[in-house]
Amino acid sequence: MRILINELAEIQEKFGYIPENEIVRLAAEMNMQKAQLYGVISFYSRLYTEKKGKNIIRVCKSVTCGMNGSQAIREAIMAHLGIGDGMTTEEGRFSLEFVECLGLCNVSPCITINDAVYENLTVEKAIEIIDLIE
Ligand code: FES
Repeated sequence: MRILINELAEIQEKFGYIPENEIVRLAAEMNMQKAQLYGVISFYSRLYTEKKGKNIIRVCKSVTCGMNGSQAIREAIMAHLGIGDGMTTEEGRFSLEFVECLGLCNVSPCITINDAVYENLTVEKAIEIIDLIE
């Protein structure tokens, strides 16, 4: 039995996002409407229909991180990379996303870069970390 979310995750793993032609193919194979697939993809914040940067920076914008300085971190990262929420740097090195609680409030403010977590950040630490990422 084929499981839709697994199929979508495999496509994203292969291409870095889920291209239109793959959505058309998968919809036909699973006897679904293309719009239904878009509905599923849009429900999951980590599935993309557009190419993203090599590294995806997710910055928490929820309350606890906010009380501990995440606004300044978001602003510093935007200024440092020259992009805003939902954008990708021109060379494709970084995509930036402001997200709801990462479930790491006890070590806030925090960000993730791809699957790595960076905790108890300051503006300076966040920029240092980003500069070390290739
Ligand atoms: S509020 Fe930022 S991790 Fe929970």
